[in-house]
Amino acid sequence: MKICVLGTGYVGLVSGVSLAAKGHNVVCVDVRPDIVASLNRAQPHIHEAGLPELLGKVIAERRFVATLSLEEGLTGAEAVLIAVGTPSLDGRIDLQYVRRAAEQIGTWLKTAGTPLSVLVKSTVVPGTTDTVVRAILEETSGKKVGEFGLGMNPEFLREGNAVEDFMNPDRIVFGCEDEISQAVLEKLYASWHCDKITVNTRTAEMIKYANNCLLATQISAVNELANLCFEMGDIDVQEVMQGVHLDRRWSPVTEGGRVRPDILSYLIPGCGFGGSCFPKDVQALRTLGRDYGLPMPVLQSVLDINELQPLQVVRLLKSCMDSLDGRKILVLGLAFKPDTDDVRESASLRIIRSLVQEGSEVMAHDPAAILNAKKELGECPVQFVNDWKPVLNGADAVVIATRWNDYGALARPEIAARLDDKPVVDARRMFRPEDFSNAIYLTIGRRPLKD
Ligand code: UDX
Repeated sequence: MKICVLGTGYVGLVSGVSLAAKGHNVVCVDVRPDIVASLNRAQPHIHEAGLPELLGKVIAERRFVATLSLEEGLTGAEAVLIAVGTPSLDGRIDLQYVRRAAEQIGTWLKTAGTPLSVLVKSTVVPGTTDTVVRAILEETSGKKVGEFGLGMNPEFLREGNAVEDFMNPDRIVFGCEDEISQAVLEKLYASWHCDKITVNTRTAEMIKYANNCLLATQISAVNELANLCFEMGDIDVQEVMQGVHLDRRWSPVTEGGRVRPDILSYLIPGCGFGGSCFPKDVQALRTLGRDYGLPMPVLQSVLDINELQPLQVVRLLKSCMDSLDGRKILVLGLAFKPDTDDVRESASLRIIRSLVQEGSEVMAHDPAAILNAKKELGECPVQFVNDWKPVLNGADAVVIATRWNDYGALARPEIAARLDDKPVVDARRMFRPEDFSNAIYLTIGRRPLKD
């Protein structure tokens, strides 16, 4: 089946390459000549595990090509996936690229002989596909849904795990406005064997938002409890959550023993969520609710808690250093999570800005995200280091802001020995207090009274 994908961001490129790997013929269309050229050289412009290898393979098998030409992409295609960006604009999503894509496809549909299904894969707020996209397509093509297919197929991939998530999804959601799009979606994903659910397009859109908003809500709720545990002292929120999660409704007891759902290893108290999805999606759903006259207090609180959470790190440092002014702080991790170079809405950058405001001299390391962090932080005075171990001795305190595996080495006896009673703020719960007999170990949600 020939598929055209519009947009080569995380969603578009990972979908295109993975669909090609499953045997479809994919043409990815992008407006940037540099991106198109590098993709055709099998060099993805995004950092994603397994992607370069898979891209090289599907290009060699002649199942994938990138192009600037929409016509080349659409000619002979049975489906077009709209996977363009929907950036955040004043708490809403900016639909300009989705609108433009729909206009271009609609114009092409006017004279197209073969049936085409238009499938929205970009994250769009509930109601977008069956109102905005439908209206543009019908107006520009002069045809009605039914003469062409219209569907919505949300993507649940996690950055850093995107290819694996696409190949082995938890579920696939088919949002359909007509039978053509349903048939095409079923054919597109025929070789995936997982739960598949067919709903209308606005339900599909809501599933995506509800999924992200409820995960973000759990993170903020746990972080709020963590902050209370810290204030009270002598309670470790991690132990609290272990106890809570033994409730059978979280971890059912079956004949084979206790089931430990993945959510329990996902939820870790810390300095807050970032990335391109959670902050943007929670804001967008809150704003959508308000457009409907609902105050949306839960989602607002999720955002408020998350906004302040990085400052807990500054608070922890202040609890054991008289002043942060002029102190050298080494921040380990800039990406919003490990295994990506993405720094969008990263808690680490908010920590760095606050430390700089306090007058600290910040040294920062990340295995992949230094370049992006430099762009994002602009004039903010930060000394970026390519290797963190040599600068450890010169730092007055260390903050672990991203859970990169590489930082596990900090607890190795020969390295931990160099910490010399300095504060170590583990803002991602990578370590145990006993890993640092030679340092002041601090973490969110735990303040021993005896320390
Ligand atoms: C998320 C969803 O998981 C995915 O299904 C959706 O398609 C896109 O958004 P992603 O943003 O890649 O994926 O990362 P995820 O691993 O979910 O983490 C998001 C953020 O939450 C990260 O900054 C992470 O550090 C943070 N987080 C996660 C916490 O702060 N605490 C936690 O307990 C868990």
